Amino acid sequence: MPPITTPKDRLRLALQKSGRLSTDSLDLLKSCGIRVKSPKEKLLLHAENFPIDILFVRDDDIPQLVMDGVCDLGIVGTNVLEEAALERRTNGTAGGYFVERSLDFGGCRLALALPEEKPYAGVKDLQGLRIATSYPQLTRRYLDEQKIKAEVVYLSGSVEIAPRLGLADVICDLVASGSTLEANKLRAVETIFKSTAVLLRNARELAAEKSHALEILLRRLDGVQKAADTKYIMLHAPKASLDQIKKLLPGSENPTILPLAGDDTKVALHAVCSEAVFWETMESLKKAGASSILVLPIEKMML
Ligand code: PRP
Ligand code: ZN
Repeated sequence: MPPITTPKDRLRLALQKSGRLSTDSLDLLKSCGIRVKSPKEKLLLHAENFPIDILFVRDDDIPQLVMDGVCDLGIVGTNVLEEAALERRTNGTAGGYFVERSLDFGGCRLALALPEEKPYAGVKDLQGLRIATSYPQLTRRYLDEQKIKAEVVYLSGSVEIAPRLGLADVICDLVASGSTLEANKLRAVETIFKSTAVLLRNARELAAEKSHALEILLRRLDGVQKAADTKYIMLHAPKASLDQIKKLLPGSENPTILPLAGDDTKVALHAVCSEAVFWETMESLKKAGASSILVLPIEKMML
């Protein structure tokens, strides 16, 4: 990749060009009010209404781009990040970066999987086998921890077909929905790493304009993530059971209580709940005497 210099006043963010994280990453930016036109057609895109440029690359390249300071930020899975970090540690080139935020998407696990018909009683059965993976560092670390001697075969993609091709006995690959394994008649037997998407940041200090832009971006991001877990709840409550009903509301402070026109025995209650409102909660509220219970999503929040 040719060297790209970073402009002083615009943040540069690396995103996965196409894959598991790309849609969610762009959706997150959109929720933060950042508009990008015709994404993915170019390598580098300028946001229209925010001082940020987006570089679309392979997810495996993102840790390096951030660690080397070509990009200030990157959205990447911790699977790819941890693999890159281990590799750097082995080469003695540990880079300056940190995880700025954990994100609410991209959950998956790195798992060892073998052909469905192959018996498996425990990790010791891996002894002496060949394991195909795109994550040699994480796989090797797990095998060392488990004191298993096995051969690790590196493949950059299509790992799931390695057993059929006779390239390996076992694979170590990412599992999200599990449909890739199922389609290839493989079954996961051990989870070796749990992954989620994170916002990665280069550790060096940013120039004033960029630093200010990042502050705004992070505030919006926190607002979006917080709003996703938060609900607005409205209900009618008999005055007599108001205290009991307030106690049932998950993670809410100081609800608003309003009079109900034409009914002296009841009040309307509005509250922001910072935790998920489940059907069970609604049923308990109903049992306690609440009626007309509405649970509404919150789009944005700033506290
Ligand atoms: C992973 C993995 C599988 C698939 C598993 O690829 O290599 O192919 O996702 O998902 P599933 O359990 O829902 O079927 P990824 O999207 O990370 O692409 P990449 O390896 O090309 O970066
Ligand atoms: Zn990848």
